[in-house]
Amino acid sequence: MNIAILSKGPGNYSTKRLKEEALARGHSVRVINYAKCYVSVERSQPLVFYKGEELRDFDVIIPRIASSLTKYGSSIVRQFEMQNVFTTTTAIALTRSRDKLRSLQLLAKAGVGIPKTVFARDTTDTEDVLDKVGGAPAIIKVARGTHGNGVVLAETRKAAKAVMQAFYVEGVNFLVQEFVEESAGTDVRAFVVGGKVVASMERQSLDDDFRSNLHQGGEAKPVRLTDAERKTAMRAAKAMGLSICGVDMMRSERGPLVLEVNSSPGFAIEKITNKNVAGHILDYVEKNAKGKRRKDRVGA
Ligand SMILES: Nc1ncnc2c1ncn2[C@@H]1O[C@H](COP(=O)(O)OP(=O)(O)O)[C@@H](O)[C@H]1O
Ligand SMILES: [Mg+2]
Repeated sequence: MNIAILSKGPGNYSTKRLKEEALARGHSVRVINYAKCYVSVERSQPLVFYKGEELRDFDVIIPRIASSLTKYGSSIVRQFEMQNVFTTTTAIALTRSRDKLRSLQLLAKAGVGIPKTVFARDTTDTEDVLDKVGGAPAIIKVARGTHGNGVVLAETRKAAKAVMQAFYVEGVNFLVQEFVEESAGTDVRAFVVGGKVVASMERQSLDDDFRSNLHQGGEAKPVRLTDAERKTAMRAAKAMGLSICGVDMMRSERGPLVLEVNSSPGFAIEKITNKNVAGHILDYVEKNAKGKRRKDRVGA
């Protein structure tokens, strides 16, 4: 097959691994910097251009869209979809996954456990907002943060109110969340491909940070998921309409609570778990690219 990896970083580990696996299976593969693509929109002619060349013969795209380029990247993905090219992540699912509130709404509706969360913008009812998540300490996060940036642990009501006010004056939408104290500093990541968990790891912050993101200096090791965790990850992926994703969960006293579902999960998990995640993705592509395009049925 003719495969395009949509990635800004040809040297990224994930991009290199996907390319390597595709080549090993005899596919032809190119890394396309989607940020440099442009589209032309005319009647019945969804075209994509790259450095003056029209991209037309791809059977498959594998989007690896940076969170800073969600909007532009998803437009490029959508244009390929309109040419009936198979994509491992649809434009709609990608956009949806980058909005924390929208994601939590869908997860909650699908019966997936999530931390108690309130979405707010105004600051007149901060007392009530805090009461609803069990008071302080509370977690406050910006709706579009990543890598642990924009996630604050407010230890006291006073601090929580000050953070909410700060976000408010900056015009940033935020979520206020119950602090899952028993699992502070650790979370588990389940890597889902084609509806199944293919690798899982536990991340632990090294200092006393409550955030376990590897970008914040967290450390990871392989972990065996419980049945409940595996089911939760699969259900979360389905609820988000994502065939390939990383589901982050906290191990709480009341079972797994999903924090977020990542639509371009990193491949560090391969090194940690010794699992061939890229290979699973190529298996998935080979199995599904030829068939009919599935409609997005998430409905929000
Ligand atoms: N409600 C919470 N209770 C305790 N810790 C949390 C909570 N929400 C997030 N964290 C910690 O902060 C980290 C970052 O939060 P997350 O929602 O995943 O934001 P990001 O998209 O920036 O990674 C998580 O991996 C987790 O370790
Ligand atoms: Mg996270």
